[in-house]
Formats: sequence, C-alpha cells, structure tokens
Amino acid sequence: MSSELAKSQISSTIVDSIEDLKGTHHGFRRAHARGFVYEAVFTPNGAAAPFTTAPHLQGEPVRATVRFSHTDANPHAADSDRAVRGFATKFHLTDGTNTDLVMVSVERFVAATPEEFVEFIKAAKADTDAQDPSVPHIKSFVGAHPTVGPALVAAKTIAIPVSYATTQYWAIHAFLWRDADGVVRPVRYSWVPEAGIVDASDSESWTPHHLTEELRDRLPVSFVLRVQFGEPGDPTHDSTVAWPADRRTVDVGRIEITKESPDQEHWQSQVFDPTSLVDGIEPSDDPVLAARSTIYAVSYDRRSHQR
Ligand code: HEM
Repeated sequence: MSSELAKSQISSTIVDSIEDLKGTHHGFRRAHARGFVYEAVFTPNGAAAPFTTAPHLQGEPVRATVRFSHTDANPHAADSDRAVRGFATKFHLTDGTNTDLVMVSVERFVAATPEEFVEFIKAAKADTDAQDPSVPHIKSFVGAHPTVGPALVAAKTIAIPVSYATTQYWAIHAFLWRDADGVVRPVRYSWVPEAGIVDASDSESWTPHHLTEELRDRLPVSFVLRVQFGEPGDPTHDSTVAWPADRRTVDVGRIEITKESPDQEHWQSQVFDPTSLVDGIEPSDDPVLAARSTIYAVSYDRRSHQR
C-alpha cells in the first residue's frame, strides 16, 4: 500500500472514530466545532530573523486571521466547560499566500502517533459505553503508553480561563527553522497573553458563548509569540513529551487581535492547517503533525458536504 493511501485510510478511520465517540454534527468541523473569527496584525520584532528566512518573521507587520475555539466536536458545547481551547492563526503574506500556526491551551498531546490516537478515542468510547466502570479502558491505554499520562491529566484538570485572552497556547509539535545559511534548528511555539494568565473561579453562571461575548467587550487583545529552541537529544518526533523548561526561549513578535471578522461564514469554511508552511519553516519528524493535513481534509470534505 502506498504511504499516501495508508495516510488517507487512517485519517478516515480517525474521523470515523471521533464521530463514533462524539456524534456527527453536520456541517461542522469534526473537532473544535464552535469557534469565532477575528482580524489581527502580527508584528515581528526581528529576533527570529537570524534563525529563519520565513517572511512574516522578519521585520514588517502582516495581517492575520485568528479563530478561537472550544475543542469539542459538539458545536453546542458550553464555554463554562473545563476544556482545551484553540487559537488558530492564518498569516496573510504580502505575496498573496498564507501560512498557518495552530495552537491549543495545553502543552502536550495525548498520543505520539495517529495509530495511538485511534486507540485513545476507542478507549474513551469503551469507557463511555462500559457497563462495568471498574475496568477503565483509558487506564489500560495509559498503562500501555506511559508518556501520555501527563497530557491526559493536564487536559482533564485544565483551568477555565476568564477570557480567551488570558490563557497561554502551544503549537505542541516541534517545527524546524532554517536560516539563510541553511542551518536547521528545532523550535516549539507558544502564544503568551499580554493580559496575564487569569483563571475563572466560577463559570456556572456563564452563557454557552460567554468567552466570545467577553472578548467582544475586551478587544483589542494581544499575545507575544515565544519560541523555545531545542537542544541535541530533545525529541522532535513525540508531542507527548515536553522539552526541559530551561531551554532557551526568544520572543519574536506580537499579535494584536483588533476586531471580529465581518465575514464569519467565509472563515468558518476555511481550514487552518499546521503544515501549511513557508520557506524557512519545515515540519519536524512528528508523525501526528504529518497526519493532520489529511485528517483535516477528511473533516473539511465531510463538513462542506453537510455530512
Ligand atoms: C491525531 C491528532 C489530531 C486529530 C485527529 C485532530 C483532529 C482535528 C479535526 C478533525 C479538526 C477539524 C478540521 C477542520 O475541519 O478544519 C481539528 C481542528 C483543530 N485542531 Fe486538531 N487534531 C489532532 C491534533 C491536534 C493537535 C496536536 C493540536 C495542537 C495544536 C490540534 C489543534 C487543533 C485546533 C486548534 C483546531 C481548530 C482549527 C480551526 O480553528 O480551524 N489538533 N483537529
């Protein structure tokens, strides 16, 4: 079997398994179903320029489109939930092309490979269906893949932010930056909120769309793009494992999210693809990163045909 065919088959299997667990919500993304889109400007500060030739990380400000989202596949999931949030950015480059940066409010992923992710979703489904809760399938999944334990605990115990603008986001995977001399360095990205990290003490009285309403009143909001540099031996292929906290970080720019997009429908129909990259940035050897483009294309195909 060709590797493209294998990729397409596992991608369909993954989206089928998400639908099996969460239901099929016609016309919506199969994950991060409910989101809202904003206009933004990203201004690089020049600190990335010695390390990557990527055009949006040099000196000139670029326009961007941002989508904040609730992680669930159910578009009616409520903002009061203890849930991971998404922050997807499309940078609009001056030559008319785009490049995407997709982040979430946790630092690690719950599976090291697409196959492991299928196992994870199946275990979650088996636990949901279980007649006998004394045999938790997720526990056996973690037993078989111990590196996912911290990521699962982080996702389950995640704080609820008072605002989309008061939480930190991570791109999770490593990427490779290539400089003008062809030297390649592994990096990991984060958006750090300029408003500080502020968690909600009580979200019980919130409306289902509270975080979108809160942001409407709060705009403009801003984040710093922080890059962590890996050192030899730091894994780039496994997004269940974080790099040591003492690795060098460099702040390379600032995004200001200015207003709600007047064209929600257009942007909701687009895909934010973490492997839509530009010269100067390359994907790492993380198999989950390699699979995401095809998985998102399956989701796009289903939602755009109202399936
Ligand atoms: C096997 C692993 C993964 C699967 C199966 C998966 C699945 C999906 C699917 C089906 C979508 C909807 C795509 C669309 O219709 O446009 C989506 C969106 C998204 N995913 Fe993933 N994903 C995975 C890994 C990750 C990781 C590691 C991150 C961490 C950054 C992430 C963050 C997001 C975000 C933020 C969105 C919403 C993007 C937007 O606003 O359009 N995903 N994911």
